[in-house]
Amino acid sequence: MTATNDAAPTTFVPQPDSADIGVYGLGVMGANLARNLARHGHAVAVFNRTPVRTERLMSRYASEGTFVPATELADFVASLRRPRVAIIMVQAGGATEAVIDQLRELLEPGDIIVDAGNTFYKDTQRREASLREQGIHFVGMGVSGGEEGALLGPSIMPGGTEDSYRRLGPMLESISAHVDGVPCCTHVGPDGAGHFVKMVHNGIEYADMQLIAEAYNLLRHVAGLSVAEVAAVFCSWKDSELDSYLIDITTEVLERVDPATGEPFVDVVVDAAGHKGTGVWTTQTALELGVAAPAIAEATFARAVSSSAPQRAAVRETEIEAGEREVTFESEEDRQAFVDAVRQALYGSKIAAYAQGFDEIATASQANGWDVDLGAMARIWRGGCIIRARFLDDITRAYAEEPELASLLTAPVFASALEDALPAWREVVSVSALSGVPAPAFASSLAYVDQLRAPRLPAALIQGQRDFFGSHTYHRVDDPSGVYHVLWAQEGRAEEKWN
Ligand code: 6PG
Repeated sequence: MTATNDAAPTTFVPQPDSADIGVYGLGVMGANLARNLARHGHAVAVFNRTPVRTERLMSRYASEGTFVPATELADFVASLRRPRVAIIMVQAGGATEAVIDQLRELLEPGDIIVDAGNTFYKDTQRREASLREQGIHFVGMGVSGGEEGALLGPSIMPGGTEDSYRRLGPMLESISAHVDGVPCCTHVGPDGAGHFVKMVHNGIEYADMQLIAEAYNLLRHVAGLSVAEVAAVFCSWKDSELDSYLIDITTEVLERVDPATGEPFVDVVVDAAGHKGTGVWTTQTALELGVAAPAIAEATFARAVSSSAPQRAAVRETEIEAGEREVTFESEEDRQAFVDAVRQALYGSKIAAYAQGFDEIATASQANGWDVDLGAMARIWRGGCIIRARFLDDITRAYAEEPELASLLTAPVFASALEDALPAWREVVSVSALSGVPAPAFASSLAYVDQLRAPRLPAALIQGQRDFFGSHTYHRVDDPSGVYHVLWAQEGRAEEKWN
């Protein structure tokens, strides 16, 4: 590497074949991932489209390990040992596409491009197929844990070929979070599998966050607790099956007091939840696959409702008589019982939401021939990622005991947890409806469980309606493979068997 004097911009010209791996894109996530790799003894080539970020990384963190900075992209690529590995950490979409196009010009068969952004898995499949034609491995890699995780140990979900994982895996496992000495990183499966699993991770993250938010709302507006008291309740749940990163940060957010007004921070934040699209993808994909993921969908829609400012204002202004009933507690014990019921409703809903997410992964894995190990996904989510939680140990064990679980709800540990939670959960959902304090994800998760439990669903009536107006046919319970139609428009309405 040569560097000019301080006054002129630094030009970095690295030695060829001197880096184990490269990171293209040195925003906070990329820089932290590069630093994490360097801290773990890997020589990391670093490159950014605008060299100022490369300079900043070198001036601040060069002492943390071996960095191989480059000012020119061709030098960055030349600095990588063969087979070369280049991790892209730029914005998903056009920026990622453009970087892939630049890199593919400079790489050779056997080399590996890794997209570590939140990319839609179908884009990953398309890019993987196109790069495969050139003999280049393309790895769509989910990385969870935010900026801190990228630096200190994220959960990593790489897709792509087995060959690429043999080269990449040891480096990734070294920098990932570890739980009980086990890395939170594994080869997820071919082509888009890694990004798919990360997408569902985010869908579950949305559901988990929404469920926690609903619990907060009920504790505050039905149980009548102050924000500080709600924070204390969440803090106490650390000692329960709900123990998780999201519960921890919820406590911290609720404890914060706005220095400017002295009000709880949560009261000075505009109540319109933003998003970057991964919940939408998870919901759309569930619909495409025919998988029921109502908790994830409900959480995504709840963000949309919160951001529907004109509709909210208009409906509020109508001041309709909504028939809410005031919920009162006769004693402090009663209030505490409700607080505990909310905990149980939250846990039951959380089990339902995760069951939906795992179902979505299982269905996509089957459809795409990915052979994703569901237990391994739960294992690598135990640390580093946003949904990390004690509960994931139970999911890991459940799949270890029965890898072919039809639904997480049927694992003995969760079946008995649901049995415990359901009475209180029903109470909470009915109190929510009566009081007018909405809890859409609690309610739809409960309905999901009840639908799966039901011996008969009103879907039979829907089949009848479909047959009536569109001759869409139906199957009979006494002949499930036969196709039937009623001649609804004709006198006598005879039933015909079509095949
Ligand atoms: C993670 C997070 C992260 C997520 C962002 C934005 O696993 O580290 O899931 O990847 O994409 O936090 O999420 P929003 O859609 O809520 O903006």
